Amino acid sequence: MAFSTLLVNLSLLALVSLAVAAGNSSTTSGQILLNCGASNKNDDDSGRTWDVDTASMFAPSVKGVAATALYQDPSLPSKVPFMTARIFTSNYTYSFPVNSDRMFLRLYFYPIAYGNYAVSNAYFSVTTRNLVLLNEFNASQTALAINSAYLVREFSVNVSTGSLDLTFAPSAHHNGSYAFVNGIEIVPTPDIFTAADTRFVNGDNLAPFSFSPDTSFQTMYRLNVGGQAISRRDDSEFYRSWDNDSPYIFGGSGVTFSKDANLTIEYTSNVPNYTAPVGVYDTARSMGPTAQINLNYNLTWILPVDAGFSYLLRFHFCEIQYPIIKENQRSFFIYINNQTAQQQMDVIVWSGGIGRTAYTDYVIIIAGSGQVDMWVALHPDLSSRPEYFDAILNGLEVFKLQAYGPNNLAGLNPPLLPKLDANPSGASGAGKSKGAAIGGAVGGFAVLLIAFFGICVICRGKKKISKDPGKSEDVQWTPLSDYSRTQSTTSGITATTGSHTSILPSDLCRHFSFSEVQAATNNFDQAFLLGKGGFGNVYMGEIDSGTKVAIKRCNPMSEQGVHEFQTEIEMLSKLRHRHLVSLIGYCEDRSEMILVYDYMSHGTLREHLYNTKNPPLSWKQRLEICIGAARGLYYLHTGVKETIIHRDVKTTNILLDDKWVAKVSDFGLSKTGPNVDNTHVSTVVKGSFGYLDPEYFRRQQLSEKSDVYSFGVVLFEVLCARPALSPSLPKEQVSLADWALRCQKKGMLGQIIDPWLQGKITPPCFIKFAETAEKCVADHSINRPSMGDVLWSLEFALQLQESDEDNSSFIEETSSSGASPLLVTRMQSDEPSTGTSTTTTTTMSITGRSIASVESDGLTPSTIFSQLMHPDGR
Ligand SMILES: *[C@@H]1O[C@H](CO)[C@@H](O)[C@H](O)[C@H]1NC(C)=O
Ligand SMILES: *[C@@H]1O[C@H](CO)[C@@H](O)[C@H](O)[C@H]1NC(C)=O
Ligand SMILES: *[C@@H]1O[C@H](CO)[C@@H](O)[C@H](O)[C@H]1NC(C)=O
Ligand SMILES: *[C@@H]1O[C@H](CO)[C@@H](O)[C@H](O)[C@H]1NC(C)=O
Ligand SMILES: *[C@@H]1O[C@H](CO)[C@@H](O)[C@H](O)[C@H]1NC(C)=O
Ligand SMILES: *[C@@H]1O[C@H](CO)[C@@H](O)[C@H](O)[C@H]1NC(C)=O
Ligand SMILES: *[C@@H]1O[C@H](CO)[C@@H](O)[C@H](O)[C@H]1NC(C)=O
Ligand SMILES: *[C@@H]1O[C@H](CO)[C@@H](O)[C@H](O)[C@H]1NC(C)=O
Ligand SMILES: *[C@@H]1O[C@H](CO)[C@@H](O)[C@H](O)[C@H]1NC(C)=O
Repeated sequence: MAFSTLLVNLSLLALVSLAVAAGNSSTTSGQILLNCGASNKNDDDSGRTWDVDTASMFAPSVKGVAATALYQDPSLPSKVPFMTARIFTSNYTYSFPVNSDRMFLRLYFYPIAYGNYAVSNAYFSVTTRNLVLLNEFNASQTALAINSAYLVREFSVNVSTGSLDLTFAPSAHHNGSYAFVNGIEIVPTPDIFTAADTRFVNGDNLAPFSFSPDTSFQTMYRLNVGGQAISRRDDSEFYRSWDNDSPYIFGGSGVTFSKDANLTIEYTSNVPNYTAPVGVYDTARSMGPTAQINLNYNLTWILPVDAGFSYLLRFHFCEIQYPIIKENQRSFFIYINNQTAQQQMDVIVWSGGIGRTAYTDYVIIIAGSGQVDMWVALHPDLSSRPEYFDAILNGLEVFKLQAYGPNNLAGLNPPLLPKLDANPSGASGAGKSKGAAIGGAVGGFAVLLIAFFGICVICRGKKKISKDPGKSEDVQWTPLSDYSRTQSTTSGITATTGSHTSILPSDLCRHFSFSEVQAATNNFDQAFLLGKGGFGNVYMGEIDSGTKVAIKRCNPMSEQGVHEFQTEIEMLSKLRHRHLVSLIGYCEDRSEMILVYDYMSHGTLREHLYNTKNPPLSWKQRLEICIGAARGLYYLHTGVKETIIHRDVKTTNILLDDKWVAKVSDFGLSKTGPNVDNTHVSTVVKGSFGYLDPEYFRRQQLSEKSDVYSFGVVLFEVLCARPALSPSLPKEQVSLADWALRCQKKGMLGQIIDPWLQGKITPPCFIKFAETAEKCVADHSINRPSMGDVLWSLEFALQLQESDEDNSSFIEETSSSGASPLLVTRMQSDEPSTGTSTTTTTTMSITGRSIASVESDGLTPSTIFSQLMHPDGR
């Protein structure tokens, strides 16, 4: 490509720099780009040239210290303007001559230690002549709270005096505080806020709203709903950046889609083309293909904002897919903070047709103090066409309006929440402290096999997707940050692979003497034996006069070395979660390698599903168990500093305590030292047939999505009450994942479910559950949901079950009609529009023939498999 492109680029570049030079800092376009603390002009990634702030006309005699960051965080969008800073230990004012009145003012901050200036002392205010933009601003805390290495604060101000004066003032309330800034950007804009019909949302009353033309705003959110982030470079109008909305969506619900290929986005007369780039309008999120499900929930975004201000919310809309072309097809309600903002939003009516843009503006007061969640929700309008009960959103902007008297835009510093595993020894509460006799790995003998490779730790220097919605146990879905950022960049790896001097953490986990273990198991009495595996035996035992435990005595001949044993204990003892089986202690006397776990009195999930004399579990119990297990896995994937991949998710590794609380087990003894990589670990294929991620099998690359696949098989197993592999059945039915997927695609899944469940699952719940399982076993990992999404979907399915059970009419309906009502519903619904998987027949039929009989009885430790697959495994 290229020589000519190169030339064009070069000449463009030359033109740009000329323009900049001629106007003494880009005043020709009115833009001002100041790279504070820099000594040379430089381009950023949008190709714009940033000026230095020494000897510029804005800062003729700039005080303060020019500093350079020593470390470039990989998540920084570009070096310029982040890598240099201007540091002020006393007040300093930049004066920018400006001719236009309204403009974006962007302040760039990269909070990191600059020389002797500790990041914790960056504590300051930024003001204009009559407005506080930031007050007692703790830059590092703010960045930590959103788990981002850098901050960009965007304001829109209307300056009528011809000069924008920006004062940086270190806080007087903290000794040693200083102010700093890495970049200052000014981009003139027309009046982009005044709209014809801005509504004030107050209770359910809507009144017209207008603001004074010199109101200042701070941008809180700018989301390309259902689409990818749009960088400043790609929003050539005002160099705005647009984020993907999924971190804010309640549980990751809804489906995303982009415009039909034969459609062109048309800006309407009320929507100037600078309102938002085409990239915002040509993607969207809607509720999903199943009208019946859509009626049961609100498509909800949760956006933390500063209380005590009014907010302007701008919803961008465009219908972009056939057949939505007419009025009253897709009509919906908009709720802001549970108040009705719009009764019947019909995009076709507002925009005048498919492919045409529209936006609506609402202002709402958010009362309270500190940071609070703002809820934005959409719900189908019952008067629209029932087959399209749905809602759509393409973009969402949220602006904070300045408060008057005193004129202020500054909120408080966001609070830092305690980190999930901050204090593994106790305070986390999820583990031992809570449940008394949390039982250990075990149940009926068949099962309980703890093979020697549960987990795999990927040390990611830093989580890339910085705004991942996280979730802590028992806290309902709010974005929760990972506060480990600063430590993890340096220490992430040492925990698992660093050289280790064997001082095991006695405060985290108990040390047992060999004689204690002997006493607990009656000297390893065969009568106490719970299970056997290649790694050794598992016994039931009793410690502390009465507490039941499961004791795993590792075979001294096992390949695992003492070093790994210790490293693993150290790591396992830090994992405490209500839905993980806890390690109580260990014994390493006399070269023994013994692990002591909680005892789980109800054994494994499998022994309550099939081939069992146990009474069947109710559907709600099954759902709750799946939700518990999903939480445990979700915690392994996201709750701790290093992502942990279980690698052997199956119904025998999901144990049940005396209260039927599901606990994931056997995430323990991995081989350490995987190849460290950001996205996957390349490793010998391990896992259990029937549950094995086909992609992992093909490419020998492991990711969290491998666990999601296996969990999908578990979901089908729970629904159908049959083994993951049934070698005696006809070929196409051997692999449950394949067979269930095939039935699901034909709308026949309802026919192969556990007969005992027939008529007991409400149709919306069934649809949601089946869709979730189907997505989990997608052939390509990229099409599988994250564990967080799976968890949300299951919780949602439970809600659907509960809400429909309340209107108990459903039970009669289903039992009166002969055919399964589930099927009917399923066939009416469309396939989700996301890319779907091809089947996994090849892999699974190979596996089905060769090994199935061994594993399917549940007696064989999966190690066998690894040794078969791994040419030099023995
Ligand atoms: C900008 O113009 C001022 C005079 O108005 C001059 O002193 C200064 O050197 C110029 N700066 C740059 C970077 O060209
Ligand atoms: C700023 O926040 C960080 C992180 O919470 C804290 O350690 C530091 O003490 C704070 N600085 C000031 C001056 O409050
Ligand atoms: C610095 O600026 C702050 C805020 O604008 C102001 O309160 C303070 O009095 C100023 N300090 C000095 C020494 O001028
Ligand atoms: C700052 O230090 C002085 C003396 O060094 C002390 O009197 C004052 O209380 C300190 N102020 C704060 C806010 O810590
Ligand atoms: C800026 O404010 C002035 C009044 O102070 C107003 O006349 C003007 O229209 C405003 N400009 C914009 C773009 O809003
Ligand atoms: C565009 O394609 C859709 C199907 O994707 C079709 O229904 C529609 O009629 C087409 N429209 C035009 C104008 O060709
Ligand atoms: C917006 O429209 C104007 C003319 O009305 C045109 O000059 C400009 O290039 C358009 N911008 C974009 C991003 O399409
Ligand atoms: C909106 O309602 C939900 C429950 O339906 C509640 O959890 C949430 O706190 C409410 N939000 C606000 C801002 O009142
Ligand atoms: C959707 O949100 C509105 C406003 O908070 C609430 O009144 C309604 O009950 C919700 N609907 C559902 C199905 O949750």
